[in-house]
Amino acid sequence: MGKVIIAPSVLGCDQGNLAEEALALQIAGADMIHLDVMDGVFVPVLTVGAGIAASIVGRVDIPVDAHLMVQKPANLIKAFADAGCSYITVHAEVTSHLDRLLQQIRTAGSRAGVAVNPSTPVDFLRWVAPAVDLVLIMTVNPGYGGQKHLEYIHDKIPEARRILDSYGGNGALIAVDGGVSETNAEQLRSAGADILVSGSFITGSRDPAAAMEKLR
Ligand code: DX5
Ligand code: ZN
Repeated sequence: MGKVIIAPSVLGCDQGNLAEEALALQIAGADMIHLDVMDGVFVPVLTVGAGIAASIVGRVDIPVDAHLMVQKPANLIKAFADAGCSYITVHAEVTSHLDRLLQQIRTAGSRAGVAVNPSTPVDFLRWVAPAVDLVLIMTVNPGYGGQKHLEYIHDKIPEARRILDSYGGNGALIAVDGGVSETNAEQLRSAGADILVSGSFITGSRDPAAAMEKLR
């Protein structure tokens, strides 16, 4: 396992100023920017589209992961890839054609991520392991920042790692998203998380640089 990757979510930032907010997070030490894209259907809230993703990508020089919490990601993949997102992550729950969607992401020029809600098992990874570059394990039900971290989900991390490593997905990274803070970061790392996505703990803190240092 390599060095931990800290990926702040800009969900709690000034939504009219996301490119500058992302740049400030980069300067404060972020390794990656996590962009929560919500369609008001898969989750109740509506956030941003590919235009905002492009302006963030144009302002920072760390990778941007677009976490698509949308019911119909197929329609959006090309736009987010053209916007320059390094990773595009779709939810396993929204499609009967996950393999096709993941291929579509790579064909469009981004790395392919798959996210799983707390209630979604990870055994399906066996059948898409070589097509996956990132697995995003949700430790809250998606839709809002600042929710309580679901600790019992940690068991999915070694399970996902074992499946990926056994079936051709050994290069894929495991990310954890939802209520990540200094109280659970160490546990998440020892369970095998490569990327810690964190929103309110970082952007709600008075000193985001110090918060990211605590996560490391
Ligand atoms: C949840 C989002 C997360 C989350 C992160 O729907 O995908 O990225 O908002 O924020 P915190 O760390 O506050 O849970
Ligand atoms: Zn997210």
